[in-house]
Amino acid sequence: MSKGELTRERILARSAQLFNRRREAMGRMSCAKRKQGTMSQETSSIDHPMPPERSDAISALSAIAYGFMGSQALFAALELALFTTLSDEPCGLDDLAKRLGAPAGPLSVLLSTCLALGLLTWDGQRYSNSPAAQRFLVSTARSYVGDYYLRQISAVLYDRMHLVRALLHGEPTEALAYATTLATPQVTEEFIRGQHGGSLAPASRLARTLDLSGYARFLDLGGGSGAFAIEAVKHYSGLSAVVFDLPQVVVVTEKIIQESGLQERITCAGGDLRSDPWPGGADLILLSYIVSCYEPETLRALLARCLAYLPSGGGLLIHDFALYADRSGPHNTALFLFGELTVSAQTQPYTVDELGAAMQEAGFAEVVMQPFLPDLTFLVSGSKP
Ligand SMILES: C[S@@+](CC[C@H](N)C(=O)[O-])C[C@H]1O[C@@H](n2cnc3c(N)ncnc32)[C@H](O)[C@@H]1O
Repeated sequence: MSKGELTRERILARSAQLFNRRREAMGRMSCAKRKQGTMSQETSSIDHPMPPERSDAISALSAIAYGFMGSQALFAALELALFTTLSDEPCGLDDLAKRLGAPAGPLSVLLSTCLALGLLTWDGQRYSNSPAAQRFLVSTARSYVGDYYLRQISAVLYDRMHLVRALLHGEPTEALAYATTLATPQVTEEFIRGQHGGSLAPASRLARTLDLSGYARFLDLGGGSGAFAIEAVKHYSGLSAVVFDLPQVVVVTEKIIQESGLQERITCAGGDLRSDPWPGGADLILLSYIVSCYEPETLRALLARCLAYLPSGGGLLIHDFALYADRSGPHNTALFLFGELTVSAQTQPYTVDELGAAMQEAGFAEVVMQPFLPDLTFLVSGSKP
């Protein structure tokens, strides 16, 4: 660290100390004045700008309205590799500005925002990753999800949210479908590789927590990058798999499977899963993040097709965003379903009970519903009698 940087860090630390002392003094002063009954309107506005209930309500609304700024701060920090840079050692502002090649002024704002969001901590001089950032936002970490946020949530969903607002004004919906969203090879590759980054950890968890040892062939319908197929065949040596997705998607899936070295055990086929024939011979079907994209009529048709396709004793797994019975949450599920309208105008806010009931009504037995990703997804499983 240069002498200049050190001076700047010290000045920042000193400013923080002074600011805190001033706030403490102001707090003491306004308390004292309140006791004396002499508090001026101006002084009172520092501590209690409005009655607590009103202040809580407007804070909650502001958190919603400003939420997109938090998303953008996260995406910007990921793009700059801020968390990866901080993963080895804490850094001060000027040092970080140099390492990231970012202008110190706006960077200091980003750092404060990340601090407020709980992504960073600050000891008065240097910034460090919070435990969550260290675990999930450092590119070399095993649980890294930055690619999912950058390549799918930011690049595709965030960019297309204006279409959802137009949809709610009754504008045409053709653009809001997977087939049109994934219109070019570049967008498709980004989206699917982003999905891979988001699905590998849940896929590994599914393979570890469910006993799939009784199955021989796995059909991953709308399987995207093939993450679930990859993790399942890695875990079960007797299992082979086939990933079915849109033709432009399986071009990318094939590359990813090749990269995983599992091309002997996982094949791919392209088509529309609602209308085209599915590759035959599987005794286990997964629909992960598919049924929430389609209305009840399509859900019923898919479940009827799954039942007709499977042999007796075959299994069906639905992994998806679904709500509690009273629709009070999970919070992140409800948010995501709104975002999912960007890729499917037919997105449905199913409750997990509705999915379980639909599976039972279709004729599946031993239907079990369980939370899967915390505050996000459920797993519903059943078998063909
Ligand atoms: C959010 S991704 C999930 C991918 C994968 N199931 C996973 O959990 O990682 C949704 C996938 O479903 C595919 N999909 C959606 N509707 C489809 C349809 N009608 N026919 C074929 N694939 C479809 C999309 O192309 C996309 O790859």
